[in-house]
Amino acid sequence: MTEFYQTADVVVVGGGVIGLTVARALALRGAQNVVLIERGSLGAESSWAAAGMLAPQAEADCADQFFQFCCQSRDIYPAFAAALLEESGIDIELETTGTLYLAFTDSDVNELEKRFEWQSAAGLQIERFDAEIAKLIEPSISPEVRAALKFPLDTQVESRRLISALANSTEKLGVRMLTGTTVEGLRIERGCVVAVETSRGFVSTGNVVIASGAWASLIKTPYPHSSLRIEPIRGQMLCFEANPQICNHVIYSPRGYLVPRGDGRLLAGSTTEHAGFDKRVTAAGVNSILTAALEISPLVGSLGLTASWAGLRPCAPDNLPVLGACAEIGGLFYATGHYRNGILLAPLTGELIAQAVVENKVSPVLDIFSPDRFDTVTVN
Ligand code: FAD
Ligand code: GLY
Repeated sequence: MTEFYQTADVVVVGGGVIGLTVARALALRGAQNVVLIERGSLGAESSWAAAGMLAPQAEADCADQFFQFCCQSRDIYPAFAAALLEESGIDIELETTGTLYLAFTDSDVNELEKRFEWQSAAGLQIERFDAEIAKLIEPSISPEVRAALKFPLDTQVESRRLISALANSTEKLGVRMLTGTTVEGLRIERGCVVAVETSRGFVSTGNVVIASGAWASLIKTPYPHSSLRIEPIRGQMLCFEANPQICNHVIYSPRGYLVPRGDGRLLAGSTTEHAGFDKRVTAAGVNSILTAALEISPLVGSLGLTASWAGLRPCAPDNLPVLGACAEIGGLFYATGHYRNGILLAPLTGELIAQAVVENKVSPVLDIFSPDRFDTVTVN
């Protein structure tokens, strides 16, 4: 392979949903000479594995700042989807039927009650149904259902079409994509980034955005240690063929979820496992997903299983995203740690990171997600 030496105004490391969205937002804000470097092919890791749910209300336990951040990102999705359609011609299939959350046990019913209480007190759109109504809304759900919530604003997108749309749009906006190229380290001089070292040569640059998902803390800096630890959390997924489709809503229980796609696929997820960088689908994983899926709808038992896969969610020690500039190294930014919500959080992440890089303006929204909360590096 020939070695290169290139220059860029901004280098984005990682071509998943986050790196692509950041690169697109940088280009839209007028950044020139943006280079995105991806080790493999675009969007082939966690972003490819995702279910595509935009479901902050179904997943949250309280109305904290993170929850507000998630809702804000969900609420800009219609405009984001329309812009991507215009730019790329690709429809990311934003599906707005809403999300149901089902209770089957006493403890589920309690959990559901708590969720209804705090979300209605916070003025959020939420509906509560007894079992009879729930079964009228979704006839395929189990007769064992005890109660249900509906989150009308929690929606879904086809995450693989989202990757294609982002890749297409970003390329049209002039971002150079270096795929099959691994970033091995950063070159820092006098406390500032001056270049990235890749498997194919150097790219000299004054700005780097680390968006390399679960691998973000493996990129070397010349400093003795970095305390930013992004851990891979494995999520396995099963895919069934449902023609005709068995449900209209995304359906959660406290133990799993079903996601109906318009083309007849039905996704069932997922596991949450500390398994290092191992992306195998395991017998135990399949068993737990299948058990949760059958509890939601026994009809799943009659469907053909067409695919299974696993992805590695990028997770910081406090489960929150890591976003923004690193105070100790000039020109170094992070956009990682999106854990269970990278698809949901992509548009807002792109906006805020691009604003920080291009306009040097840091939104106060980013305070709680700052990489400096971990004392990212020690400078001698
Ligand atoms: P990735 O998509 O993993 O991309 C990182 C990229 O960086 C990869 O392409 C990798 O090859 C590249 N890279 C790594 N190291 C280097 C290097 N040194 N040099 C160059 N390139 C490098 N989120 C939701 O919002 N909704 C959901 O419904 C949802 N469902 C999920 C279901 C499952 C089973 C899983 C596993 C995740 C789910 N998620 C969901 C989470 C979501 O997928 C992630 O949060 C999101 O994809 C993270 O995006 P990313 O771009 O940071 O990481
Ligand atoms: N947000 C769904 C998942 O991570 O499995």
